[in-house]
Parts: sequence; C-alpha cells; structure tokens
Amino acid sequence: MVKAICPGSFDPVTKGHVDIITRASGLFDQVIALVVINPAKSPSFTPQERASMLTRATAHLPNVQVDVFKGLLAEYVRATGARAIVKGLRAVSDFEYEFQMALTNKKLVPEAETVFLNTTSENMYLNSSLVKQVASFGGDISDFVPATILPDVQLRLCDKIKKV
Ligand code: PNS
Repeated sequence: MVKAICPGSFDPVTKGHVDIITRASGLFDQVIALVVINPAKSPSFTPQERASMLTRATAHLPNVQVDVFKGLLAEYVRATGARAIVKGLRAVSDFEYEFQMALTNKKLVPEAETVFLNTTSENMYLNSSLVKQVASFGGDISDFVPATILPDVQLRLCDKIKKV
C-alpha cells in the first residue's frame, strides 16, 4: 500500500489541482490531498472551508482522502508513513521554489520522495490567486474551478468586492 500526499494551500482548489490529484491517484494506492498552511500567503478561506471544497472536488476519486494539517509537512509525511509528496509544476518559474522545498523535505524526511507532475497545457496558466482576482471582479471562473465549488468561490469573492 503506497501512500502519497498532495499538499497545498488549495485557496481554493482549481481544476489544475484536481488534474494533479487525479493523476496521482492513478499512480499510488492511496492519496491524501492535504490542506496545509503556507506562511507566505494570506488565505481567503479557512482551512476547514478549503478542505470542504477539496472533498467535493475529489469525491469521484475513491482512493483520495482529504485532511487538514497545521505544522511541518515533513512531520505529517512521517506520521502517516507516506512514501511520496506529489507536486504540480506549471512552468520553469515554479521550479526554483519547488526544488528548494523538495530538498528541505528530503532532509527532514529522507524516506519520502518528492514527485513532480507537469500540468497539462490547458492548466499551465492557472493559479488560485488569479482565479480569486477574476472572481472578485465578477468574471467567469467556471473554466478554472470545479463546478461543485463554483458557488462558494463566487459568494466569498463577490462579497469581498462589495465590502470595499
Ligand atoms: O499551494 P502552495 O501554497 O504552493 O503550497 C505550499 C505548501 C503549503 C505545500 C508549503 O508551504 C508547505 O509545505 N507548508 C507547510 C509548512 C512546511 O512544511 N514548510 C516547509 C516546507 S519545505
């Protein structure tokens, strides 16, 4: 039973994330899509809201579970006995930061490997911040986020712009 973790902020989950998690679920016996805290970001959704959206977006994948963790990813990986950390790479610009995290995690939890999956060409430009920006100005984000979470994102981001 080889377990993998797909960690991320998922603020909110995009179709690009779902693509990576789906492909990881075909490679590993069990996948945990893990909402973790990125100290460099100020999120729009609470960790529980993000996990709820992630659960709906991955409900069709029987070997994928969703969890929330506040702490060092390496500790979660060790505690669960996962063998891989799966990350999506969109462009060369992602690489340096992801490489740094992969090397740090390797030092902290040597028994696990970081596995990079390249995004599909349709999802190359996608990230959560852009999706939130488009939504906050009332733009159509239906191509960017799973249909099951669309109302959550529209409600939260439209509310935000009305309050400004
Ligand atoms: O989706 P993101 O924001 O690019 O994901 C980055 C994330 C959340 C995976 C990274 O910030 C993380 O692992 N945070 C948990 C704290 C941690 O372990 N930091 C050291 C990373 S080497």
